[in-house]
Amino acid sequence: MRARLHPDRHDCLMHNPWNEYVLPRMTDQLLDNRTVAGYRERAAAGLTGEVVEIGFGSGLNVPAYPKGVTKVIAIEPSRTARNLARERVGATTIPIEFRGLDGQHLPFADASADSALSTFTLCTIPDAGKALSELHRVLKPAGTFCFVEHGVSPNPRVSAWQNRLNPVQQRVAGGCNLNRRIDELVTNSGFEIQSLDTFEMPGPRLTAPWGYVYLGCATRR
Ligand SMILES: C[S@@+](CC[C@H](N)C(=O)[O-])C[C@H]1O[C@@H](n2cnc3c(N)ncnc32)[C@H](O)[C@@H]1O
Repeated sequence: MRARLHPDRHDCLMHNPWNEYVLPRMTDQLLDNRTVAGYRERAAAGLTGEVVEIGFGSGLNVPAYPKGVTKVIAIEPSRTARNLARERVGATTIPIEFRGLDGQHLPFADASADSALSTFTLCTIPDAGKALSELHRVLKPAGTFCFVEHGVSPNPRVSAWQNRLNPVQQRVAGGCNLNRRIDELVTNSGFEIQSLDTFEMPGPRLTAPWGYVYLGCATRR
């Protein structure tokens, strides 16, 4: 039987060397490109004030934070990712504070944040609905949640491959799912989607199972 560890325990999420040491470096390389940087800027444009960012990773969103952002509270379980983020965190004038390791359990009071951000993270969090409910809880009533995520494709041939590949993807990519319906997850967690763009990332056909993007912003219903 698997022991249930406290959510603040670093090792409850990053319990194997592949996930802890290799994946964060691979993610840092793979997601650091001009195409994705453009998506990050579009998603982050809707943020203001104090922002909660779940799955902060290596800080690739830092250059995309717009002027109105006054502080970022980062949730990131991987120590390696947090170390990789150091330079980006040091290069901005926006204060960034790491607090909490699990998007499913946010250590904040209700209605305390102005905005929230998630990029390429809802695929990996085991219970993405719980993480979204947590964001809904900590956002102020007029708060905004912005996201850019990959998820299930509306093309049946691609989604069939996403379902086929999902078990392998989960094993090699730290629990990442290819076939989540991001828009449904967001609306099922009490949000109303205010803007949503869905599209295929440019790239060879073979990469289509990884490349269906959901980019948008939502407010509390
Ligand atoms: C694919 S990476 C994306 C990183 C970053 N958001 C980006 O866009 O470059 C997914 C991130 O989610 C983090 N993560 C995994 N489980 C998590 C959880 N339960 N709560 C918060 N973040 C989590 C991983 O450590 C990793 O940094």
